[in-house]
Amino acid sequence: MDRLKQAYGNWVEGDRFWDREKDVELLIEKIHDGAHILLTAQRRMGKTSLMREAKRRLEGRYICLFVDLQKASSAEDAIVALSLALKPHEGQWRKIKGMFANALGGAAERIEELNLGELGIKLRAGLVSGNWSEKGDMLFSTMAGSDPPVVLMMDEAPVMVNRILKGEDYRITPQRKSETDAFMSWLRKNSLEHQGQVRIVLSGSIGFEPILRQAGLSATINNFLPFDLGPWDEPTATGCLRALANQYGINFRDNAETEMVRMLGCCIPHHVQMFFTHVCDRCKRRGRMDISPDEVGEVYENQMLGVRGHTELTHYEDRLKLVLGPEILTFAIEMLTEAAVTGRLTSASLVAIQKGYEFTEISVREATEEILRVLEHDGYLKAQAEGYIFESRLLQDWWKKRYSSLYLPALQREI
Ligand SMILES: Nc1ncnc2c1ncn2[C@@H]1O[C@H](COP(=O)(O)OP(=O)(O)OP(=O)(O)O)[C@@H](O)[C@H]1O
Ligand SMILES: [Mg+2]
Repeated sequence: MDRLKQAYGNWVEGDRFWDREKDVELLIEKIHDGAHILLTAQRRMGKTSLMREAKRRLEGRYICLFVDLQKASSAEDAIVALSLALKPHEGQWRKIKGMFANALGGAAERIEELNLGELGIKLRAGLVSGNWSEKGDMLFSTMAGSDPPVVLMMDEAPVMVNRILKGEDYRITPQRKSETDAFMSWLRKNSLEHQGQVRIVLSGSIGFEPILRQAGLSATINNFLPFDLGPWDEPTATGCLRALANQYGINFRDNAETEMVRMLGCCIPHHVQMFFTHVCDRCKRRGRMDISPDEVGEVYENQMLGVRGHTELTHYEDRLKLVLGPEILTFAIEMLTEAAVTGRLTSASLVAIQKGYEFTEISVREATEEILRVLEHDGYLKAQAEGYIFESRLLQDWWKKRYSSLYLPALQREI
């Protein structure tokens, strides 16, 4: 019988990585083919884990570089992060040191004693007067000359590009737009020039397309192959719960695991894991390791929708704010609340909600289109014939719990 160790929110690989066999195989196949890939999915679907697992399996056949750009806010930061990723690879690192010889100066001899933070500062000092793209080109040439070839995984690239585009005050200025353009054009140029030698995988917890669209740069990644990661199907999710239960000595009575999957509706791996953790903790606390479908329902109501759930929701809201900015965020929150409370955001309710808004930079119609694009792309809502509904029941329940208390549905207000 399968066993699986719990994950605690961070990415997983190896013996904590469940299933996704076909996804890993397909991703690896496309990497072998030399494709550049844009890995997209809703939040918490396991994008980072999929990259990490592919990296683990590709080790030896490729130099797999995994770079997290979450904290990066400029092209220079990205070049430093990519350079540092080559540090464990002696031949390539030697070239990088050569590239930054001026900046390293006297530190070059004791460079191996510096920690990554100190090294980062030194390399950053070598990127002066807009020479980042030139150094970046050299970096790509170094990667392209590698044997074995390089797979460059850039996680949270959209978060970084979003920051270049909007700064900390969420304003798209001509200056920021041109910096974004410069970075994306540089990436595109190198991805085309070194196709077949360097493979790039881009991903992130917010979608890339809506951000590039805001910058008017959608075409810059049209040479990247979209790779969409979906939720687990029912057998995979129940299999995961059984394997976890097996590892921790939990006994599901009367198919309680099937009930858990039914309650979640959309099986986003992180939500499946969270649900199990709550069930497991409850069993351990009371010293009885079996659990019934009714008790699972209580765990959903009390724990999944409790304080931990609230924390998760805050993450979602933070990400939404990053993409939309504070001005139209309130409008987006109201649209989501309408969908959560009434079960559906219809065109009639949308018209009623729109009446309460006016924006300085864009029209209400443009804002509506932009929000819906982001909400659909990032997996909050899906379009149906009679309007938009939540993709995930859990997310809908979280949202309802947080925002419904003072909310009057849009169509009731007009009466
Ligand atoms: N293949 C998997 N097997 C088991 N658990 C998984 C798997 N993929 C994801 N998870 C669960 O989901 C959580 C989040 O995974 P991960 O960080 O890879 O998702 P993500 O899509 O990168 O999230 P974000 O949108 O925040 O970047 C993990 O901590 C784990 O609980
Ligand atoms: Mg991630």
